[in-house]
Amino acid sequence: MKKPKVLIPQRDLERRVAEIAADLERDYGPGRTADDPLLAVGVLQGSVFFLVDLLKQLRDLPVRMDFFQTSSYRGGTSAGEVRIRKDIDSWIRGRDVLLIEDIVDTGYTLRTILDLLRFRGARSVKLCALLDKRSRREVDVPIDYLGFPIDDVFVVGYGLDHEGLYRNLPYIGVLEDDTEVLEDDGEDRPEEGGAA
Ligand code: IMP
Ligand code: MG
Repeated sequence: MKKPKVLIPQRDLERRVAEIAADLERDYGPGRTADDPLLAVGVLQGSVFFLVDLLKQLRDLPVRMDFFQTSSYRGGTSAGEVRIRKDIDSWIRGRDVLLIEDIVDTGYTLRTILDLLRFRGARSVKLCALLDKRSRREVDVPIDYLGFPIDDVFVVGYGLDHEGLYRNLPYIGVLEDDTEVLEDDGEDRPEEGGAA
C-alpha cells in the first residue's frame, strides 16, 4: 500500500472542523434544552471520523446521534438508485436534524436521505458535508455547512475509503495513478457498491 498524496492536511481539517462546530453552536445552541436536543445523523461509514471530531467540539449544545447506512448502484440503468441498508432508530417528527456526510458527489445519496427525513416530519433538516465535489453533481442538494470544495479527484482518508481501506488516515489524500493496486482477496462482490 502506497501513501496517498496529501490534499488536505490534518491541521486544516482540525481548523475547519472547529469553525463549523462554532457555527453549529451559534445556529442551534442558544437556549436549547436537553428535552429538545439536536439530532446529528451520520451516514455510515464514511462520515464517522468527521462526525466524531465535530460533535466533540460541541460543548454547550445538547446533541444525540444516529446513523444511516446506504448503498448505491453504480453504472447501468439503475444508476442513482439508493438503498437504505440501516435505518436510524430515532423518532424524527418535530426534531432539528443535522445530516452529516463525508462527501457529496452525484448527490443521489443525500437527496434520498434528505427527502426521507423531511417526509418523516422533521422540524428542520440541514446538511453538513466535509467535502463537495461540485463538478460531479447530478441532483441538487444544498449544503448548509461545508468543509472544503474539491476537484473531481478520488480522495481517501479521514473516513473516506478505497475498497474499505485508508479510512483511518488523519488527512485527506489522493490516490495517484501509480499507487499500488490492492490484490483481490477472492471474495465475491455484490452487484451494488459497498458501504458509502
Ligand atoms: P453520491 O450519492 O454520488 O453523492 O455518493 C456519495 C458517496 O460516494 C459518498 O458518501 C462516498 O461514500 C462515496 N464517494 C464519492 N466520492 C468519493 C471519493 O472521492 N472517495 C471515496 N468515496 C467517495
Ligand atoms: Mg459516505
